[in-house]
Amino acid sequence: MSEPDAQALDELFTRVLHTEDDALRAARESAAAAGMPAIEVSAQHGKLLSLLATMTHAKRVLEIGTLAGYSTINLARGVGLDGRVVTLEYEPRHAEVARANFERAGVADRIEIIVGAALDTLPTLADRGEPFDMFFIDADKENNTAYVEWALKLGRPGSIIVVDNIARMGRVLNPADDDQQAKGVRAMFDMIGEHPRLEAAAIQTVGTKNWDGFAVALVT
Ligand code: SAH
Ligand code: DHB
Ligand code: MG
Repeated sequence: MSEPDAQALDELFTRVLHTEDDALRAARESAAAAGMPAIEVSAQHGKLLSLLATMTHAKRVLEIGTLAGYSTINLARGVGLDGRVVTLEYEPRHAEVARANFERAGVADRIEIIVGAALDTLPTLADRGEPFDMFFIDADKENNTAYVEWALKLGRPGSIIVVDNIARMGRVLNPADDDQQAKGVRAMFDMIGEHPRLEAAAIQTVGTKNWDGFAVALVT
């Protein structure tokens, strides 16, 4: 008998729970075909994002970091027909691949992609009036603290913030001097821990994405 392994068990969950349909599978494969890195959320994490949106009755979601739109499709499904997802992406090529995936998944009319560096495009969202109910932060980890601060500005009491990649194979524990990403995650935790309006939990994960994790915070 072979040793159990976390990746195979993750794949079992996805198979028996029917987590990934054709549109999601196509979105995942499109990223590889376009030469983009395979750094989208796992199928289980994607479904959890969808469920969190549905469970919290989120109707307006802001995502930072689109890639090929795998997580975005999950969020769009979670908000339902009358919900909206705004997703911020730096690379025009990623946005283009994502748009095709949104069409194929039948959720393009619920999603707005804004191309540019998120710190440049976030201020344009402040004038829109209506707060966001949920945030998914999954872009350049160096700016995580700034992104959480933007979520506080663009959210409301009761909004939830999900942050991806909070363990990075454990590198966040003692970030190397030149590891700006791990340092960015670490600085964000210090900020969240001291913030009077944030309550948070950080969950480490294993599986198809190896040792990583995500944090969930509630704006109080
Ligand atoms: N959320 C996606 C994965 C995102 S990968 C999913 O799970 O399916 C991170 C993405 O953030 C990449 O596409 C990268 O181009 C983008 N990115 C990096 N720096 C950025 C910035 N400053 N502003 C906006 N997007 C950025
Ligand atoms: C990286 C970024 C991600 O958002 C992710 O989920 C995994 C890896 C990266 O930049 O290495
Ligand atoms: Mg990520």
